[in-house]
Amino acid sequence: MNVDDALLSDQGLRITILEPFGLALHAVDPGRPLTELPVESLRALVREHCLLLLRDFASLAESAELSAYGERWGEVSAWPFGTVLELVQQPEPADHIFDHSHMPMHWDGMYREHIPEFQIFQCVHTPGQGNGGETTFSDTAGVLDEADPATRALWSRATGTYRRKMEYYDSTCVSPVVTAHPVHGTPVIRYNEPTAEAGDTFVNHPDLEFSGLAHELELAELHRSLRAALYDPSHLYAHAWRTGDVVVTENYTLLHGRNAFTSGAPRHLRRVQVLGDPPLANPGLVR
Ligand SMILES: [Fe+2]
Repeated sequence: MNVDDALLSDQGLRITILEPFGLALHAVDPGRPLTELPVESLRALVREHCLLLLRDFASLAESAELSAYGERWGEVSAWPFGTVLELVQQPEPADHIFDHSHMPMHWDGMYREHIPEFQIFQCVHTPGQGNGGETTFSDTAGVLDEADPATRALWSRATGTYRRKMEYYDSTCVSPVVTAHPVHGTPVIRYNEPTAEAGDTFVNHPDLEFSGLAHELELAELHRSLRAALYDPSHLYAHAWRTGDVVVTENYTLLHGRNAFTSGAPRHLRRVQVLGDPPLANPGLVR
């Protein structure tokens, strides 16, 4: 673990390791402002550990405060709704993002002009114990490291074509399943996990196609083996949200999704996306 002196010598912090990856910084004095932590140090930690939980700090009351906090990290992605996505279940959602369903693994920005380097999530209200709704993160560099050569060769032959239309975009993205991290070149996985088709209640399926494989059996094996590896406990961190948590993640390496939650549970998250410096133009965007 590499934690710089500014954080290690901070007597007001308790640092713990998350399993299977990630770090947590707990404020000893609850209510301490997040802004007291040097962003340079935090950014280095997220780049190294891919996920950073900031717990027991003063809550960011308004969404504008989260946006302002994101701006300390870098250029914040602008959307038609502004910079802060309010993730709350809607009564009749037009898209699964606003439902209580499982959210398949994906990477943020896959349908946008730029891929954000970081995501900053804030838990405004926990879904409550036993209600599910964990945000799931998979360390794809670790997945590739531990994959057997034949499986890795299969993944490396596949290219995904993803089309998705929702309120905020109508785009196509084409990406090899195995590609290189845009900054340091470590192999990473870019994959949007398919969901069951007919007869389910998943709202607004994206349209997915995979090429480069010889036959249907290989395609089935691609999805089976990717799912098994991405959700393996040695690579998957599922964050159970507590009110007030802030989680910062590295979106160039991780894929993320959501466990289903009890319909009507009071789960409320906010999210901002922070672009890299320079911003990463989406290499897969076809439109
Ligand atoms: Fe996402």
